[in-house]
Amino acid sequence: AGFLSAAPVGSGAPVAAAAGSLKLTVLYGTESGNSEKLADLSAKEAKKRGFQTAVKNMSDISPADLAKVENLLVIVSTWGDGEPPESATSFYKEFMNGSAIHLPAVRFSVCALGDTAYEKFCQIGKDVDARLEALGATRISPRQDCDVEYEQPYHEWLDAALKSFGPAAPAPVTLAPTATHVAEEYGKKNPFPSELLEKVLLNGKGTTKETWHYELSLEGSGLTYEAGDALAVVPVNAPDIVEGILKASKLSGSETVEVKGVGQKVLADALREDFDITALSRAVLTKLQAISGSDKLAALLADDAKDQLKDYQWGRWIADAIADFASSGVGATELVSIFRKLPPRLYSIASSPLAHPGEVHLTVASVRYQAHGLPRKGVASTYLADLIEKGGKVPVYTHQNKNFRLPASADTPVIMVGPGTGVAPFRAFVEQRAATGKPGKNWLFFGDQRYTYDFLYQTEWQDHLKEGNLTKLDVAFSRDQPEKVYVQHRMLDRAKELYGWLQEGAHFYVCGDASRMASDVHEALIAVVEKEGGFSREVAEAYIEDLKKSKRYQRDVY
Ligand code: 2AM
Repeated sequence: AGFLSAAPVGSGAPVAAAAGSLKLTVLYGTESGNSEKLADLSAKEAKKRGFQTAVKNMSDISPADLAKVENLLVIVSTWGDGEPPESATSFYKEFMNGSAIHLPAVRFSVCALGDTAYEKFCQIGKDVDARLEALGATRISPRQDCDVEYEQPYHEWLDAALKSFGPAAPAPVTLAPTATHVAEEYGKKNPFPSELLEKVLLNGKGTTKETWHYELSLEGSGLTYEAGDALAVVPVNAPDIVEGILKASKLSGSETVEVKGVGQKVLADALREDFDITALSRAVLTKLQAISGSDKLAALLADDAKDQLKDYQWGRWIADAIADFASSGVGATELVSIFRKLPPRLYSIASSPLAHPGEVHLTVASVRYQAHGLPRKGVASTYLADLIEKGGKVPVYTHQNKNFRLPASADTPVIMVGPGTGVAPFRAFVEQRAATGKPGKNWLFFGDQRYTYDFLYQTEWQDHLKEGNLTKLDVAFSRDQPEKVYVQHRMLDRAKELYGWLQEGAHFYVCGDASRMASDVHEALIAVVEKEGGFSREVAEAYIEDLKKSKRYQRDVY
């Protein structure tokens, strides 16, 4: 309370001593590492301003620990359909539903990361923000919800939040670009134009899939990565998609528009390079409704029309909505005002830097389907497949994923479950373990549709088996027999041995489809432990929870 009555912000009073005694906890929940990075950055900035800081991962604390905190910044991301980050799940559940704790002494502010392409945008941040207040804590600065381009809003939030905790340190440090000395470095702000060295279609003739192996050069970029990291690809939109938007809007493309942070640009170029012109989110439809005044669209956006809205969004692009709800066209400036920036796409890296120095490899399935009478496609996957030839340049930067790491010890056994393109990081893992001397035991579960066409990297796996880099390989080809056989069925077939490996301390990794595969594999893992350990379901679940807590169960799912 004494602190609250201190001099108001900006009064100019030198209050370094008081500020120096202020304790600040930065709590984060992270999936791909963004929240973690921002938490570290926040602590650094707060320290400069005289705070005593501590950074905590939600995976490492329990809600009751918050009772001891005075000043709290929370940075948490939301995944897919309103899910918390994997590693924050236990904390989140207990915080939201567990026995109520009382936090009257806590002063807080929340920064929520999310993606407006999803209905439950920033849901976890919103929940935590509301729950903190409900538990008696004081919101000292408003919550900030950030879309994929989070840098700017995050910096504004941090600045405001730190100021509202109290008087700043003697010499307030400007938050804006710490980047002057790194301006020349390659990274998110300045992607590296990487040469496409190799491009190989991994599926055989007759397949229904289109999975590519890409090899890109990092030579001269200064960019580094570890097995388990991701590569961000900065795509452009395909000409036919740009055409579609122009046609629906009744514009020629030669109009001039203002692009935030870039300047004036010819519309067609801006549509190609700067904006997400396909993803039909509620946010986009809301802006389109404001422009067109369409009653039909207003009805679709009503609270009681959520299911109809979902149905409408499925398989449609922004151009369809313009044609349906703004059929007389849209002005160029209005048009660009409905878009968000074209976000880069993250792909799990498929190579070990030790096995392929100066290179980075990707395994990418081209997303193509037919919907509402038109061929549809994924922006980045088909950018690589259709628009980039060998020798062409792809803007990229590396993205750390500290939550997907090989065990510290080379002797620890590793179990990897990676159907389809989920196999990518495991190619990196096995290469890495092979390159670092005597590897521990490695076991891969791979699955895809058909053995003959879809056995990604088949000859490499066979070589790794021969050389002892891979100890066991179990495959599930779902469409080679009348009934579906998936990786989780193979896990159940091998239950005894799998449990044995876990008992020996194995780490368990899953990569690939988040919507069903990852949860089916999770269920199978519980079933394996239940059966082979002779446990009840509850005890088996606790066993898996412990694996997660000790970072022996890691997932990279999308
Ligand atoms: P399917 O397409 O024949 O159903 C890689 O895409 C592989 O993952 C394919 O063989 C695919 O099978 C399979 N797959 C689909 N759903 C799955 C699930 N719920 N669990 C595991 N594998 C799945």
